[in-house]
Amino acid sequence: MSESPIKTIGQQLGRRSWAEPWKIKMVEPIHMISQEERAKALQEAGYNTFLLRSADVYIDLLTDSGTSAMSDRQWAGIMMGDEAYAGSRNFYHLEAAVQTHYGYRYMVPTHQGRGAEHLLSQTAIKPGQYVPGNMYFTTTRLHQELAGGTFVDVIIDEAHDPRSLHPFKGDVDLDKLRGLIQRVGAENIAYFSLAGTVNMAGGQPVSMANVRALRELCDEQGLPIYLDATRMVENAYFIQQQEAGFVDQSIAAIVKEFCSYTDGAWMSAKKDHLVNIGGWLAVNDHDLFDALRNLVVVYEGLHTYGGMAGRDMEALAIGIEEAVQDDHVRSRVGQVLYLGDLLLDWDIPIVQPVGGHAIFLDARGFYPHIPQDQFPAQTLAAQLYLDSGVRGMERGIVSAGRDPQTGDHRYPALELMRLAIPRRVYTQAHMDVVAEAIKAVYDARQQTGGLRMVYEPKVLRFFQARFEPISARE
Ligand SMILES: Cc1ncc(COP(=O)(O)O)c(C=O)c1O
Repeated sequence: MSESPIKTIGQQLGRRSWAEPWKIKMVEPIHMISQEERAKALQEAGYNTFLLRSADVYIDLLTDSGTSAMSDRQWAGIMMGDEAYAGSRNFYHLEAAVQTHYGYRYMVPTHQGRGAEHLLSQTAIKPGQYVPGNMYFTTTRLHQELAGGTFVDVIIDEAHDPRSLHPFKGDVDLDKLRGLIQRVGAENIAYFSLAGTVNMAGGQPVSMANVRALRELCDEQGLPIYLDATRMVENAYFIQQQEAGFVDQSIAAIVKEFCSYTDGAWMSAKKDHLVNIGGWLAVNDHDLFDALRNLVVVYEGLHTYGGMAGRDMEALAIGIEEAVQDDHVRSRVGQVLYLGDLLLDWDIPIVQPVGGHAIFLDARGFYPHIPQDQFPAQTLAAQLYLDSGVRGMERGIVSAGRDPQTGDHRYPALELMRLAIPRRVYTQAHMDVVAEAIKAVYDARQQTGGLRMVYEPKVLRFFQARFEPISARE
């Protein structure tokens, strides 16, 4: 019998295939509008994918935030909502889930991650203090600045190089941190702002060795460490797979050990935790907790709901338990790696190694002829939508915003377009369609010109900025 040319992915890779650890119980139809309709929709959206209507999008990889498919257990939990204003039983379930899986003593719920960032920044930063961290995140840094802090990036240099194959590109450069402490004094540093994984670096993880060393240094200097735990479960997967000594440990155990080196964490539960809305902030220090519990009432809601309905807290509590299951995390990150491997195989420039939640296309590699102030990554997001109705987002100069001191654009080393994969939503066939669309845009790269910004909001401009194409003759 002749050997069949058609092979499964497992056969291509010389191993047995594995599949998602779920089956589909309910479907949401999607369809692609015509090329003319996409061109019109893009123009109306000011070439900003954030301003597209979702009905005009075919495969939506704008974000993995709040876009997960909930499980049947989570939907059942929704029906168990205790909508009491105070002391809802769902709050206690949520509190117990955070304590069990993250290990912190005290927790306040918030409506989403930025609500928690706001509360932590207002309580833990004194105006004039510095906040070192392993690369900025948009909303995190803004809240730190609004509280009078100055963020200082002390991530390792490899994080800024899309081609570096360092397995833990989210690691903190301890020498850079020591340099900052020497320059400004530990008393002028509010806390260390640690993220696992690092979204803006391409979903890159932090190693256990690095967080242990960071803990030692921060202990010497009397500095607390607060963790952005938004994608900590995915970070734990990379530790399990890539760091010596962890292959036999469960994701749940790795998450818990990592968190034990930190003093608290904030969470956008819309990511790892498989819910469409929600967040929390958890700390070990009782005085800080007291301050947070008082402040949450002002901005979010009573300390036993913090902006969430009882049913949302129930779905979240169940989501926390599901999120740390090894088979779930393997399939979630495995899907991202699958798409990444296809693109790498076709020599399409992406951030390497592939991170946990998204593929980051290197827009400079696509469009070396487009200067950064003509927004190569924004251009790439627009072109991909035009080609195939696939929606991603800019993570480059537009997201970096302006320097508050000089008013100039910040020019980040990384000019990326992100395709974030929602959890438990799309299949391998969708990933194949996306890969082919990216290839078509890459093949047409030389004929593509940049954009001009015609409307610029003062803060977080990437959400609502508007652009128009620069014509070839300009
Ligand atoms: C790493 C990280 N931190 C914080 C946030 C803010 O969370 P939210 O969107 O829930 O306000 C996000 C959201 O994208 C994120 O990716």
